[in-house]
Amino acid sequence: MNSKAHPEEINDSKLNQDKVFNDEIKKVSDFKFGAKVASVFDDMVNRSVPMYGEIQRMVAELAADYAQTGTNVYDLGCSTGTTLIGMNSLVSEEIKFIGVDESEEMLEKCNNKLKQARFSRPYELVSADLHKDFRVENASVVVLCLTLQFIRPIERERILKTVIDGMVEGGALILVEKVLAEESTLNRNYIKYYYDMKRRHNYSEMEISQKREALENVLIPYKLSENSLLLKKTGFTTIETFFKWYNFSALIAIK
Ligand SMILES: C[S@@+](CC[C@H](N)C(=O)[O-])C[C@H]1O[C@@H](n2cnc3c(N)ncnc32)[C@H](O)[C@@H]1O
Repeated sequence: MNSKAHPEEINDSKLNQDKVFNDEIKKVSDFKFGAKVASVFDDMVNRSVPMYGEIQRMVAELAADYAQTGTNVYDLGCSTGTTLIGMNSLVSEEIKFIGVDESEEMLEKCNNKLKQARFSRPYELVSADLHKDFRVENASVVVLCLTLQFIRPIERERILKTVIDGMVEGGALILVEKVLAEESTLNRNYIKYYYDMKRRHNYSEMEISQKREALENVLIPYKLSENSLLLKKTGFTTIETFFKWYNFSALIAIK
């Protein structure tokens, strides 16, 4: 273990403020992880995901315990590299990190952030669309943090199959997702509490509603039980919830 900064500390320093939905948009189009979002993503995710810093810490701690010497650790949908940097502090040296994302703008940000964080271990940043052509090889840890929810439902099982097939025995998949509650009244309430959280994080009513519209056809959440079932169907044996906050949850699944 070394004493490199944890993502929370890195994210705290002078983030570009998320104003993507600050102005009224005549016709809201589907949400995209392009240049505009990439430039403010760290602020956006910190203000939009409850306990984001704590989730990142937990992901890094779990990764450290499942990463095996001589293998690869993957972050699928790595965005600006916050998880890679967090894991780098805790995962032992002889392990290669591979970040995958389809957004070139995110990968560029990620590369800059890794350099800034003086990333020392071998790493690769791969531009790939998970819907099409990505590979997982010799993996002891695979992270899907808030990414599977953006994959078309019909493709999710195939993607998880690629993940498990590319994993060594005893490897772990860490899955963080926005979820639906199991019951409809609770679901409505959870969404209400979630938007209350966004208000507390200084998002206006217009920002909240325009972003909701932009995400409508793009972010498709499952229930926690559906994600669990999908992981079981794919072949994972032990499946445990390690984080839950209203409509957000995180699972670890072991091969
Ligand atoms: C919400 S962000 C993930 C956040 C990040 N994992 C974290 O913990 O901060 C989703 C990421 O997945 C990427 N993504 C979405 N769909 C993808 C796809 N089909 N293939 C590859 N990457 C994808 C986006 O470009 C974006 O960077």
